[in-house]
Amino acid sequence: MISNIITMGGVKSLKDIDVTGKRVLIRVDFNVPMDAQFNISDDSRIRAALPTINYCIDHNACSITLVSHLGRPKGGYDERYSLRHIQKRLERLLQKRVEFIDDFDTLKTENAQCSIERIFLFENIRFYDGEKKNDPEFCKQLGGLCDVYVNDAFGTSHRRDASTYGIADYVDTKVAGFLMMREIEAFTKALENPIRPIALVVGGSKISTKITLLTSVMQKVDKLIIGGAMSNTFLQAIGYDMKGSLVESDFLETAKEVLEEAKQHKVKVYLPVDVVITDSIDHPIDVKVVPIQDVLDGFHAVDIGPATLKLFSEAIELSNTIIWNGPMGIYEINQFSKGTYKLATIISESYAYSIVGGGDTADAVEKAGEKEKFSFISTGGGASLELLEGKILPGFEKLDRKS
Ligand code: 3PG
Repeated sequence: MISNIITMGGVKSLKDIDVTGKRVLIRVDFNVPMDAQFNISDDSRIRAALPTINYCIDHNACSITLVSHLGRPKGGYDERYSLRHIQKRLERLLQKRVEFIDDFDTLKTENAQCSIERIFLFENIRFYDGEKKNDPEFCKQLGGLCDVYVNDAFGTSHRRDASTYGIADYVDTKVAGFLMMREIEAFTKALENPIRPIALVVGGSKISTKITLLTSVMQKVDKLIIGGAMSNTFLQAIGYDMKGSLVESDFLETAKEVLEEAKQHKVKVYLPVDVVITDSIDHPIDVKVVPIQDVLDGFHAVDIGPATLKLFSEAIELSNTIIWNGPMGIYEINQFSKGTYKLATIISESYAYSIVGGGDTADAVEKAGEKEKFSFISTGGGASLELLEGKILPGFEKLDRKS
């Protein structure tokens, strides 16, 4: 049976079509982090879209319309989420003029004048009601803006929105951009043709959000390395008292089932053997490392300890493919970031093919200063999780297929 990831890899890409003289609409994911003054703190997603945009420029598309969301605005215009804040950075990175357009009618008029090379950046598509609703009329309007639709918004490809999904019904030529293809290739290498042994390192706060991932990869991986607050639930399930730590009591049985399933599939499971505990997360006064059987009353486990790092590093060094999704602790707080950052270094220095699911993990790897040493860092948080879970991402569903 052909797996879903192989099915997604079978879509046409920009290289399979001719964009010369065409009005091209590219759905990008410019949902980048910004501070209160609208300074972009990480422009990786903008950079990741450049190959697709440049290709369209180089191949003489007559106009390029960039469509993205930013954040999750509720009900119309909100300055905090305006794509206007992206324009300058984009111009600098492309070294081209980019015209920011904030209303649909102007975009329609300007974009129809298909005589010179122009790049339009449209206002946050989520200011429009029809976007999240995937409203057919809105999809049709969007489709009317172009001759070629290119979806390069991998980070948003798990959303069934008008600009990532429904629009494709109203455009004759619809293909994937280079980022979409690169993401699929990277995950295909890790999931379909891995060099074994393959380890899944999984963390983050909740087992409930990763349960589908854990069960779906069981037949694929050789090792499961579990850290972060979600490991508390596993540890509690096998008899340790995690005291004040975050434990999902409703998922204790599920945790046991995951461990049982791992046993059946001969997947080796690695859990923390020591943890960093604190008396308070927001105002820590007492922070110490203890073996997992010695978590103190009223204390919370907030990071993995040094013995755990040693254990995990041995498992990692003996792996040839590593997929990492989810931090090992509350890495956003300096005192509790060591486990995650050191793990980033351990994985990046291994000889394995290493792939990072986006979101928090990508952010942690960047902050650890190890970004360049990983084989691949996904630009998608939720999207990469759904990909690992074995789902077909809606953003690929309606694109043209190679025959
Ligand atoms: C992301 O940051 O994960 C993507 O841009 C998708 O954003 P969303 O979760 O608001 O749809």
